[in-house]
Amino acid sequence: MCGIVGFVGKKPAAGLLLDGLEKLEYRGYDSAGICVGSNNGFQIEKTTERIQTLKNSTHNGEYLVGSVGIGHTRWATHGAPSYYNAHPHTDMDGRFAVVHNGIIENYLSLAKELKREGVTFVSETDTEVIPHLLAKYYHGDFLEAVQKTVARLEGSYALAILCRDDPDTLIATRRFSPLILGVSSDANYIASDVTALVNHTKDVLYMEDGDIAVMTADSHTVYDKLGQPVERPISRVTWDIAAAEKGGYDHFMMKEINEQPKAIEQTIECRIKERHVEFDEIALDRKKLEQFNKIQIVACGSAYHAGVVGKYVIEELLRIPVEADIASEYRYRDPLADEHTLVIIISQSGETADTLAALQEAKRKGAYTLSIVNVVGSSIAKASDDVLYTWAGPEIAVATTKGYSTQIALLYLFAIWAARQLGTADRHELHQLLAELRTIPEKIDRILDQADTLKEMAKRLTRTDSLFFIGRNLDYAVAMEASLKLKEISYIHSEAYAAGELKHGTISLIEKGRVVFALSGYEKLADKLLSNIKEVKSRGATVITVTQEGNMLAAKESDDIFYIPRTHSLFVPLLEVIPFQIYAYYVALFNGCDIDKPRNLAKSVTVE
Ligand code: AGP
Repeated sequence: MCGIVGFVGKKPAAGLLLDGLEKLEYRGYDSAGICVGSNNGFQIEKTTERIQTLKNSTHNGEYLVGSVGIGHTRWATHGAPSYYNAHPHTDMDGRFAVVHNGIIENYLSLAKELKREGVTFVSETDTEVIPHLLAKYYHGDFLEAVQKTVARLEGSYALAILCRDDPDTLIATRRFSPLILGVSSDANYIASDVTALVNHTKDVLYMEDGDIAVMTADSHTVYDKLGQPVERPISRVTWDIAAAEKGGYDHFMMKEINEQPKAIEQTIECRIKERHVEFDEIALDRKKLEQFNKIQIVACGSAYHAGVVGKYVIEELLRIPVEADIASEYRYRDPLADEHTLVIIISQSGETADTLAALQEAKRKGAYTLSIVNVVGSSIAKASDDVLYTWAGPEIAVATTKGYSTQIALLYLFAIWAARQLGTADRHELHQLLAELRTIPEKIDRILDQADTLKEMAKRLTRTDSLFFIGRNLDYAVAMEASLKLKEISYIHSEAYAAGELKHGTISLIEKGRVVFALSGYEKLADKLLSNIKEVKSRGATVITVTQEGNMLAAKESDDIFYIPRTHSLFVPLLEVIPFQIYAYYVALFNGCDIDKPRNLAKSVTVE
């Protein structure tokens, strides 16, 4: 969703801002703008098209003179995508320029008050109240005006602000919306995420809720929500810009699909000592685990699908009730959670608004919260009692692949670790499971080698307008993700169904030629799945089965088959999802879809 960049230094700002905005394009946006400041005032440029348009109209930024500036990509919430609604917004005198992420919930009452005082609004946005409030509270002190303004705001915001009277200063502040400060000896940067600034500095400071940062070219001071100067730690980003570039691939999605073996390896190997799992980074221990009588896993979209895998695996190894819940449902259903509940929150971005709200709800109820997050220093990571990071590196494609698979890898580690702590599974069996988990990256490589087979399969199916994915147990969990992958990037309708549930209504949709993907890697229920294959075949379906090597019976009953390497049933999801990611990619490619930035979608959903 919306993205912010900001720069103050000794070099021209515009080119840096435009580059930063390009790095944020993956988040999804419908308009964009920049403002550059100098002793001669502001120069503002906006577009309702791509960042490239801004680059063209400003001659790659050369027309905008000044070494302080802010930029924004907007994903419309209040007011349609338009030139006037695009950020930056200014007050009536053009003294302040503001870019904003988040939603100002009390903007209607603030706008009413400001209009009564003679202010004229030019946009339909909630954001525009901010520059007008700044003008109202400004009596020569930039920082004081910001402090008084944010005190009036309700809702969520990350703000970058320029003041015409103070052309060497950039002020940034945040509350429930991400904002990162990048520091160096002769320049300071801000951005919604690290990808926009890692090209310039790897030293970053994660701002806390309520912080206000005042930056010049060679200084930065952070004030906490009480207005006191505070020292926030500077962290070093461990990856470089190449990780956030396509590296020879046509799309980020294909690059990230291929990165999965390495991403999973990075996520698990650092937590395996001898033949055991060790989580040095969390406070959770055997004593605390013993106090839980249930586990709730809460997330959105693919992260929720990873949670469904986690539910099956944790229940099998820990014999404790596990619920997997959609965050937007959990947050409003007065969930039954208390101090005996472990709530596992899963989020690649760590900024998903519903997931963050669900986490806060769980905490209000007294539950212990453990988050599984990819983005270091993100809001969810910071708000949880414990965090386990998936070391997948930056994920740019909107459709998650390595984010999802590393979440599952961590859930396996967690289940194996907790089962050992609680003694709910045989130690020898846990050793074997861990050994098998370590073979998964190499097995994924073997599937990736067969991408051309999947490409051919996709070519044959581009004209399909609706299809089904069926499975049982862990196969059903993967079916959900396979269906979402196809929907979000190829815009083809599909449904994931628990195979045994088909006959309770949906089988009426099975007719001659209907494509049904049968997921049959979970061997314990392979014979049951075989009956479901026969059931849909006898009604005319074209069945393509994905199963473990050696499942000859399924091959006999299916129209086509794709084999994954053999593994323990529990680990099937990590292998079985790969062909579906590749298949979805090629269907989208053959249908001419925008694979990395599918329509209507944003990478990180920071509004409700
Ligand atoms: C998956 O491909 C989607 N982009 C989406 O479902 C995503 O998983 C969901 O929005 C949750 O995002 P998060 O992991 O960043 O919280």
